[in-house]
Amino acid sequence: MTNIKFVKSEPVPLEMHKVRIVQKIQLIPLEERIERNREAGNNAHLLKNEDVFLDMLTDSGVNAMSDKQLASMISADDAYAGSASYYKLEEKIKETFDMEFFVPSHQGRACEHLLSRVFLKPDMIIPMNYHFTTTRALIEKAGAEVEELLIEEGMKPESDCPFKGNFDIEKLNRFIRDTGVDRIGFLRVEAGTNLIGGQPISMENIHKVTGICKENGIKTVLDASLLADNLYFIKTREEAYREMSVLDIIKEISACFDMIYFSGRKLTCARGGGMCFRDEKDYKKIRDLVPLYEGFATYGGISVREIEAMTVGLEETLDEDMISQGPVFIEEMTKLLTDRGVPMVTPGGGLGVHLDCKRFVPHVEPKEYPGAAVACALYLVSGIRGTERGTLSEDRDEQGEEVIAKMELLRLALPRRVFTLSQIKYAVDRIIWLYENRDLIGGLKFTEEPEVMRFFFGKLEPIGNWQDKLTEKFKKDFGE
Ligand code: F0G
Repeated sequence: MTNIKFVKSEPVPLEMHKVRIVQKIQLIPLEERIERNREAGNNAHLLKNEDVFLDMLTDSGVNAMSDKQLASMISADDAYAGSASYYKLEEKIKETFDMEFFVPSHQGRACEHLLSRVFLKPDMIIPMNYHFTTTRALIEKAGAEVEELLIEEGMKPESDCPFKGNFDIEKLNRFIRDTGVDRIGFLRVEAGTNLIGGQPISMENIHKVTGICKENGIKTVLDASLLADNLYFIKTREEAYREMSVLDIIKEISACFDMIYFSGRKLTCARGGGMCFRDEKDYKKIRDLVPLYEGFATYGGISVREIEAMTVGLEETLDEDMISQGPVFIEEMTKLLTDRGVPMVTPGGGLGVHLDCKRFVPHVEPKEYPGAAVACALYLVSGIRGTERGTLSEDRDEQGEEVIAKMELLRLALPRRVFTLSQIKYAVDRIIWLYENRDLIGGLKFTEEPEVMRFFFGKLEPIGNWQDKLTEKFKKDFGE
């Protein structure tokens, strides 16, 4: 996005790219959407993409690729060991993060898996600003626990705090004192904190948090999956970094950490992942496991074509026009919705817009999954699919009781450079209609409930016949 001025009309986000390859999409009729939603067990993860009009489930692996990325994929070097494509990526990673050692992995959670295997023991507690679903599940699988040390403001959906992903420093000091350094395997910082609405952490906070860890001899790990958005927010919301280049900001961030991992599906607009290390011993411990769980250490389970695209994608992350595209569209869509009274997470963050379903459907009990209910309702009335980020995304505790999430969100991801402003406006139109008819939305209950990460494969049904009433009203207002 750009600083080009509008003088005769309201400014809108102006893309600094043009579309040269397109994919046709279709909006299937309401009756079919009702059927598809029922077959998918009211779970957007189980819908077929061909039955979705605007796929806002995630940005993971579905950001638009650039012409340069696509071109690079043609000349990839296929080899089990020693691929030239790999060495290009390794070089780019070292150049960008200033870290000596790198291993590739097939995606972000694979790094989390290896980290948990190497650095965790049962009874350890891993502090972080906020968990991500796969991060916590893998830490708990290793017998350890997660401790969230987010500032209080981060949990308030409506706020004007520019860095809601910051750590509460007092909580961190208290946590280290009470837990003892030996039980802290590492501290994890998540850039662009996903589950609280893609909210950034400030450079100032990163310095404070990692400084305290250094003083105490605690290893620090950055989850850089959503770093691109976070870079944009540091540059635009933190005065001292206005004039600094994106590359210099990355270098200042990475200098604070012992290890950095990322989902290449997000950070590099390609499909892969990886991890870099300052310390050779840390690197070797992880590297030795890569051939066992991922693939040989010069491909890590990633296609060499995607490795080429990751290298170019990382280079493009240094372009401000590129990293601003997501946040600027998100800010615009958040504004169009909040102007019409729709309860949203504010300020807009990265990744997507987030509807605050506690306020959207206050009459739906947390145990009846308000976020998931709004997700289904939106699919029915628009063909758009999003992801619930609330109680359904939690698993039950050991006693089988529901764990009520602190936030009940419906995330509508805006993968980079994928949607146009007209498509955003269509989404806004249907969300406003849904909000005006919110009283018709009811809850959901499980018919099939997996024990782990139930939101992926779980099947649900509506409690009562609210979906019939909602779709009847829709037909009345929009016609057949
Ligand atoms: N960390 C963060 C902050 C993430 O957002 C994700 C994935 C991962 C780690 C795991 O990476 O998917 O490559 O294994 N987030 C996706 C999402 C799935 O939809 O937000 P992965």
